[in-house]
Amino acid sequence: MKAILLAGGMGSRLRPLTIQTPKPIVPIFDRPFLHYQIDLLKQVPEIDEVILSLNYQPRRIEEVFGDGSQLGIKIRYVVEPAPLGTGGAIKYAGGGLRESVVVFNGDVLTQIDLGAVIRLHRERKARATIVLTPVDNPSAYGLVETDAGRNVRRFLEKPKPEEITTNHINAGIYILEPDTFDRIPSDVPWSIERSYFPSLIERGETFVAYVYDGYWIDIGSPEKYTQVHRDIMDGRFAAAPFLGQPARHGAIAPDVRIEAGAVVEGPCFIDAGVAIKAGARIGPYSVVGGQSQIEEGVVIEGSILWPSCRVSRDAEVRDAILGRNCHIGQSVIVTPGTVLGDRTVVTDFSRI
Ligand code: GDD
Ligand code: MG
Repeated sequence: MKAILLAGGMGSRLRPLTIQTPKPIVPIFDRPFLHYQIDLLKQVPEIDEVILSLNYQPRRIEEVFGDGSQLGIKIRYVVEPAPLGTGGAIKYAGGGLRESVVVFNGDVLTQIDLGAVIRLHRERKARATIVLTPVDNPSAYGLVETDAGRNVRRFLEKPKPEEITTNHINAGIYILEPDTFDRIPSDVPWSIERSYFPSLIERGETFVAYVYDGYWIDIGSPEKYTQVHRDIMDGRFAAAPFLGQPARHGAIAPDVRIEAGAVVEGPCFIDAGVAIKAGARIGPYSVVGGQSQIEEGVVIEGSILWPSCRVSRDAEVRDAILGRNCHIGQSVIVTPGTVLGDRTVVTDFSRI
């Protein structure tokens, strides 16, 4: 069985982080995001190949995962000549397939039992099975109505507030029969959410829902990207380097240099090669990427720093995200909600 990971979007809501780093490989702690999805797919022994459906910066993604041998699963890349939308991408990547295929949005993190979804798909002899999950506000997602028999009755992408009739949304995980792809036109942008799913319902095909209420998040915005790190630090999602344990004392790489007089408060994650000078404070829910330098008197709190950042003396960084190689000048104040792209330089004494 093959799995298609839809990983070709531009990641526009995560800009400027995604200008140099496509969303599928933004780091979650020290690992590119798709590692976590591939770990989940590997739990299903039947899945023998992962097809990465790419468009935006495909080479960068290929460089990270190669042929998959390091991860223990075969990886193949299908690069669209131009973005084909979610439906077009699935057809382009899975056109030649003859057996059921697992499809995953390349930006959702979850601990779903994929084997159970595949079993339901087979038991119900479904043409398509979709995973649903409850959320507080469905407006940023695809709203899905079902009947008592868990058949999908309505699919409404990005509903307006007055259109919200349920809190169940499309979790971005499907089992599909490739012979239903005939209704997706070739080589033009086509949305699985706006066109393919509604067409299955119109044609009365067996379209089944699997409801999952465990951990699920779409990492596609700065708020959610930050939330994922907090959830893992709090043990709500089990992942290395915390493996489900609340990181109360912080997960600190063995070679991190913390000078006497510096304070590190968990939960936090400090990666290899980081140096923290005297009088600096790394507060809760901070992630400091490898090789970063934190100078005297700096305060970092609730922030994610990608590798090789330098934060100069007495600067304060709160609830922000800093891309790779940022240089924050002396006494700078980085205010909550700030997101800086790679190699940003902030002049001494600025407030941003
Ligand atoms: N190959 C390829 N080509 N992939 C694409 C394209 C494309 O043209 N467009 C989007 N993708 C990929 C994105 O990289 C992402 O992994 C996935 O398809 C979904 O796109 P998003 O842009 O993240 O969509 P969304 O989050 O607004 O909504 C989708 O996900 C929600 C769950 O997180 C929809 O499927 C909603 O119905 C769903 O609720
Ligand atoms: Mg998304």
